[in-house]
Amino acid sequence: MNVKLLDLERQYRKIKNEVMSEIKSVCDSQHYVLGSNVKALEEEIAAYCGAKYAVGVASGTDAILLALMAAGVGPGDKVVTTPYTFFSTAGSIALLGAKPVFVDIEPDTFNIDPDELGRLLKRSSKGVKAVIPVHLYGQCAEMDTIRSLAHNHSLSVIEDAAQSIGARYKKRGAGALGDFGCFSFYPTKNLGCFGDGGMVTTNNRQRAEKLRMLRGHGSRRRYYYDIVGTNSRLDEVQAAVLRVKLKYLDEWAEGRRRNAGKYTELFSKSGLGDAVTVPEIRKENLSVYNQYVVLVKKRDRLRKYLAEKGVGSEIYYPMSLHQQKCFKELGYKTGDFPVSESVAKKTLALPIYPELKAGELRYVVSTIADFYSK
Ligand SMILES: Cc1ncc(COP(=O)(O)O)c(C=O)c1O
Repeated sequence: MNVKLLDLERQYRKIKNEVMSEIKSVCDSQHYVLGSNVKALEEEIAAYCGAKYAVGVASGTDAILLALMAAGVGPGDKVVTTPYTFFSTAGSIALLGAKPVFVDIEPDTFNIDPDELGRLLKRSSKGVKAVIPVHLYGQCAEMDTIRSLAHNHSLSVIEDAAQSIGARYKKRGAGALGDFGCFSFYPTKNLGCFGDGGMVTTNNRQRAEKLRMLRGHGSRRRYYYDIVGTNSRLDEVQAAVLRVKLKYLDEWAEGRRRNAGKYTELFSKSGLGDAVTVPEIRKENLSVYNQYVVLVKKRDRLRKYLAEKGVGSEIYYPMSLHQQKCFKELGYKTGDFPVSESVAKKTLALPIYPELKAGELRYVVSTIADFYSK
């Protein structure tokens, strides 16, 4: 049996006719940039997340970059975030000449530890302009505490919700829990387009207006530039694809949750004990399981074995950001964030996409059980 980590072809087969007809309409219109599909998608995503405004941009990375710019972050400022995330969370901070300041994660959710954040800000919040909690793998960070700490220290809250569209925290949608919500439509995301794309959500009209200016070189009126922005537009073809997919997003997230439940049941029956720890979802959270990440013993050997047996897996992420070469100048050292460093050696993402069949889930778990029985 061959079980890929993600098989997008299965999804594509189901929606191909619908998507192709929408793409044809865009081509027939010959209107490719910032047209009716982008406008409609912005309204639909805002409503979906429970935010007032949404601004389409070129990628999830740009969503974070533009949100930071709209929050007024610039050279010399500090922005607090987690070292256990995809690179662009911290990369965007550094690109603006600001300094990423890391806070360790919780060992069960892998999200930023709010107590550690509180301790850091108590020690010193000088120069800190914003905090970026990342809703990793599909589960929101502990937003009540983060928001109240941010409020007390006058920080902007920029949610990195790239992996978590549709996730809920205390029944409220990811992207509507802070000052800005940043989404990625990279193909492997739950709502993925046919290339790159992203979106920023906000409840504030002025911020939305600033984001719209920033994505179009800082202009409100053609060829007149009030601030310095960039070209970061979402195009019509991507927006048309996303509008079709958005209609299925809840159903797909439900399928991911069903598969996660099945894995938990299979692992608990497999007698693997503490060799495999399944993901922990807090009761206030509804996860959309962009990734299903287990903590395992002998991770690298297991991964190799799974590959030999036709099971795809991935390591998100093998090295914490404070240990990356490009951030050497920040002065962190190994041992500074023990939880991040420890989970980086144990995490393994398993196939979770909604179209997986029951037999495939059973095969993944029985192959893992075989490995540990040897
Ligand atoms: C947590 C996180 N932040 C940011 C991004 C960046 O998104 P993109 O790849 O669309 O630039 C990603 C996606 O890869 C991500 O997973």
